Amino acid sequence: MATSSRILEHRVLARLAELDALGIRRKLSEPSGIDLCSNDYLGFAQHPRMRRRFVEAVEAMGVGSTGSRLLRGHRSAFRSVEERFARFKGTPAALFLGSGWAANLGVLASFLNEDDVVFSDELNHASLIDGMRMSRARRVVYGHCDTESLARLIESVPCAGQRFVVTESLFSMDGDIAPLDFYAELQARHGLALIVDEAHAVGVYGETGSGLIEDVGIGEHVFLSVNSAGKALGVCGAFVCGPEWAIDYLVQAARPFVFSTAPPPATASAIDEALDLLEESENRRRHVRGLGKSLRASLGIGDGDSQIVPIILGRNDLAVRAATRLRARGFDVRAIRPPTVPDGTARLRVSLNAGLSETEVQRFASQLKVIVKELEPCLAPS
Ligand SMILES: Cc1ncc(COP(=O)(O)O)c(C=O)c1O
Repeated sequence: MATSSRILEHRVLARLAELDALGIRRKLSEPSGIDLCSNDYLGFAQHPRMRRRFVEAVEAMGVGSTGSRLLRGHRSAFRSVEERFARFKGTPAALFLGSGWAANLGVLASFLNEDDVVFSDELNHASLIDGMRMSRARRVVYGHCDTESLARLIESVPCAGQRFVVTESLFSMDGDIAPLDFYAELQARHGLALIVDEAHAVGVYGETGSGLIEDVGIGEHVFLSVNSAGKALGVCGAFVCGPEWAIDYLVQAARPFVFSTAPPPATASAIDEALDLLEESENRRRHVRGLGKSLRASLGIGDGDSQIVPIILGRNDLAVRAATRLRARGFDVRAIRPPTVPDGTARLRVSLNAGLSETEVQRFASQLKVIVKELEPCLAPS
């Protein structure tokens, strides 16, 4: 073995041992038990209509797209689902990329220039952070959903170019909602470009299920929204929605779009079916948010109704122990630890879906209370 690879192996093994010691070494484990951790909020991923449509599309178009969209990978199925998604979001245009991760990188690296300033919520998703880092804009982090801190920073940080505000609408690990109406006001006052990641809100919020931009009614103030199709829509990929000129520019400039094989064309057909299903899913939306409300009430943690309920335990090992005990009782819940969440806030991220019954959720709540009680001596501040 070459010396350099021994050095590398040694370095990597030392890092893995360090992750072990910190209680943050990740392991892969397959689904088992009642789903309380996926992002399949409406149960579309296994829906018979979705399966059928996907299989039919594979029969018709094959498995792979064979190239980037700019080469032979483009298909009319992509174009038509983009047009439909743009109408769904009430924007002039949309572009489909292989994942929400790719979309966030593409958007932020394409539009942010070095003389721009981007204001970013401190709990924004890693893909947003990486996209901002890839751009050369100055990144200014404000407190989570902290309107005063953001307003103060906007007034005080000089900017020679464009100012951006970047936020999730429904936060993925906390299940709370950004003050979007306030951001819309700021946008109107300062001419900011507002970029909203709707990954967890699409399908669950809004009268038609298009997300929180619709729910709060701030569409005219949003420059771009990024909408993962891998969560409530049950497939994969993501749509960037906004004005024609911006979408056209992404086709030229977004490197994850230009330099990557297009997703299987059948994904476009499956998403089209998901949009059909969404039109009939008001009850599912209402049900899943009702579960969010009742689980919070049973656990005495806040008064929101989102489908994402964080149970913050603090220490990494406690979150892992709680998740292991719940899984042993048949509930598939996962521990979320740093760097996904800030140090000292390890948690169970409970995500609800429309296939769950109120009884199952209440059974889970009582098991969780028992487990938290068992762990209580370890939870007490030392
Ligand atoms: C807020 C947020 N944005 C973007 C993404 C990435 O989306 P995708 O899973 O489609 O790559 C995620 C994924 O968990 C997310 O939580």
